[in-house]
This record gives sequence, C-alpha cells and structure tokens, in this order.
Amino acid sequence: MRDPGQGDVALVARSAPLSKKLEPFGTSIFTEMSDLARRSGAVNLSQGFPDFPAPEWVKEAACRAIRSDKNQYAPSTGIPALRKAISSKMRDLYGLEFDPESEVTVTTGATEAIHSAFLGLLDPGDEVVGFEPFYDSYPACAAMAGAGFRSVPLVPPSFEFDSGELARAITPRTKLLVVNTPHNPTGKVFSRGELDTIAGLAIEHDLLVVTDEVYEHITFDGARHLPLAAFPGMRNRTVTISSTAKTFSLTGWKIGWALAAPELSDAVRKAHQFVTFCTATPFQEAMAEAILGAGAYYVRLAAEYAERREALLEILRNAGFEAHPPQGTYFAMADYRPLGFSGDDVEFCRYLATEVGVAAIPPSSFYHHPEFGKGLVRFSFCKKLETIRAAGQKLAALSRLEAHRR
Ligand SMILES: Cc1ncc(COP(=O)(O)O)c(C=O)c1O
Repeated sequence: MRDPGQGDVALVARSAPLSKKLEPFGTSIFTEMSDLARRSGAVNLSQGFPDFPAPEWVKEAACRAIRSDKNQYAPSTGIPALRKAISSKMRDLYGLEFDPESEVTVTTGATEAIHSAFLGLLDPGDEVVGFEPFYDSYPACAAMAGAGFRSVPLVPPSFEFDSGELARAITPRTKLLVVNTPHNPTGKVFSRGELDTIAGLAIEHDLLVVTDEVYEHITFDGARHLPLAAFPGMRNRTVTISSTAKTFSLTGWKIGWALAAPELSDAVRKAHQFVTFCTATPFQEAMAEAILGAGAYYVRLAAEYAERREALLEILRNAGFEAHPPQGTYFAMADYRPLGFSGDDVEFCRYLATEVGVAAIPPSSFYHHPEFGKGLVRFSFCKKLETIRAAGQKLAALSRLEAHRR
C-alpha cells in the first residue's frame, strides 16, 4: 500500500475541486431525463436525437473514408473538401459567400463552435445578450469565457420578444448577441422583422452576433429560415454556426462549423485549436459528400418532420395539453396546466416519465426566469412515427388520471 504523500494531503485539505465559474451549473437536464426514461422504461420524447437510422448513402461515405485510411488528424480548420462544400451550400441556399480558406472553420459540432466562438471573442467582464428560453450551453460557455449572460424573454404562446426589452438588456459591457433560429425549445422561426430589429441594435451598439442555425433545414408551414449574416450590415459582425447533426440525423458524429469574416474566424480558430484542435477526419469526408449531394434531401427532410409534427400535435391535443405548433425544429412546447396539474415542470416531467411512461423535458432549465415558461413542457418529435404513436397511447391515459395524483 502506498503512503499518503504530500500531494494527497494537499488534495484532502483543498476546498471543492469544481471551479467557481462552473459552480452555478448542474448536470444537464438532458442527462437526467434520459436516465429517468431508461430506468422507468418510458417512451423517450426528451432529448433531441433521432431513433430512426441516418441516410444509408451518408453512412456508406463514412465507411468508405475509414476503409481508404482517411483516419489521421485533419487540418485544424477542417478538410478542404468540407470547407468548400459548406461554402457552396451557403452560396446556393442563401446567397452568402464565405471563403473556404479564411472564413470557414469545421468544429466538433455546433456545441464546440459556440464554445470556441465565445472563448475566442469574449473577455472576462464582457456580457452576452440572448433570449430565454435559451439553449443551455450559452450561459455556460459565456461563464467559461468569464463573461455574463443576460436574457430577454420569448413570451408564449407566440414566443415574441419586446424590442424595448432587448434594447434595455444591452449595456456598455455587452459585446455579443446570441440568436438561435429556428429556436430550441420553442420551435420559433425568427421573422424578417424580428431579425431586422436585432440587426439594427447590433449595428447601433457595434456588437458581434453569434447565430445558432442548427435547425436551418427543419421548418414548416412556409416559414423560411433567414440567416442573420445576410442582413445589411451584418456579414462582417456575425459568426454563423450550424452543424450536420439535425440535418442528417447524425447527432453522434459531431460535425459543425463557424462561418465568419477573417478577423472573427481567426478568433474562433485560436480557441478551437486548443479546445479540440480538429474533428474526426472520416466523418468530415462523409459530410463533404453529403452536403454536395444533398439536392432534394433537405425538402424531403422537412416533409418527413412535418408528418411527425402533425402526429405529435394531434396526440398532445387529444391528451388535453394546449400545444404550441412549432414553425421549425423538431420540438413542440405544450402547456400542461389544462390537465389540472398544479406542480412545476420538473415535477410534471418526473410524474410523466414514471407514472404515465413518456419522458419529456422540463424547460425551466432553459430559463433564468422560469416564470416566463410556467406550465410548459417540451416534447421531441425526431422519432419514428411508431414511437410517437406509442407515446400517444400512454398519453391518452393522462385525461383519466385521478386528481390527487396530479
Ligand atoms: C439550439 C442548439 N444548438 C446546438 C446544438 C448542438 O449541436 P451539435 O450536436 O452539432 O453540437 C443543439 C443540439 O441539441 C441545439 O438544440
């Protein structure tokens, strides 16, 4: 047996090992709810990962890349073929030109792009302004960069924001706005007018903007995704982030990107080289092929999601929820209060998973002020129709449950 040495004594004497920066952040709600779904055998409509297979032709491309020994470190900024493919997609779909050499950086998912952008662009004491509910990595990534995070509410049922409130959230410390459209968890697609307002404030206060556009190809009812970088005066102050996770049902591959003017890209790349340095080579090869060969795939993807959305909305309404139809993403928010449940969203989701057999996400963890999302629960519909229908059978029992159990 080893004697305790100096190092061990120091370990025992030291206070809690977690840094002060991360102290306010708990375990991600996705982990908690997915664990609960597994333990209770509930149908999992919580975390946003597809339960259906990814496209065969994309998987084949990755297998080919692995077999042909494209298995060593990629260039830190991404393999040239993928940078070129992303650049031509942005030109073809949105009329935006990005130089593959100096303006496109491949990252380990959008998650790492957000982290590297915040680390590369923010100094301690700076502030980020976003909307709430927010994707939970924004405040954490701001905190890891030593920056603060202020949020402006998106108010149900239409999840609009008050432009005066957004203007008032901007202080002399604000350096960056973060905008997620289509928006998780509300399913909102920011309108041209709303994006004009955001662009106007960014220009007036000379702010940088990070946009998170990972659901860019999943929109409904004629709603169109508009990249903020395409708005007048925004091209050179915006870091446009997206990924292939949601588009190609490949959340485990973690291929994302950050697109920005050379000076902003340099800042993102400085952080990226020390965060992950580079991203899995064979998956980059496959994604380059997938993006170049996508053609009508994006339209099919949105049509398939429209069918899943309809199935879920009907189930939710029949079960007694007040569902808020999303304009984009693969999430739907629904109000559970018409069911007579008076507890908070975490209690409701625990009850739903353990007693009813359906796992969902309590959105309060996406809020600084959970009262703005009171009574809401988020369901994912990136699931086979049979999974959604199986959840429907369980949810049908809700209206029959006794009042005292609510
Ligand atoms: C709004 C939003 N941004 C970023 C991500 C993460 O994307 P990636 O898997 O590419 O890291 C997600 C995943 O759920 C998301 O919903």
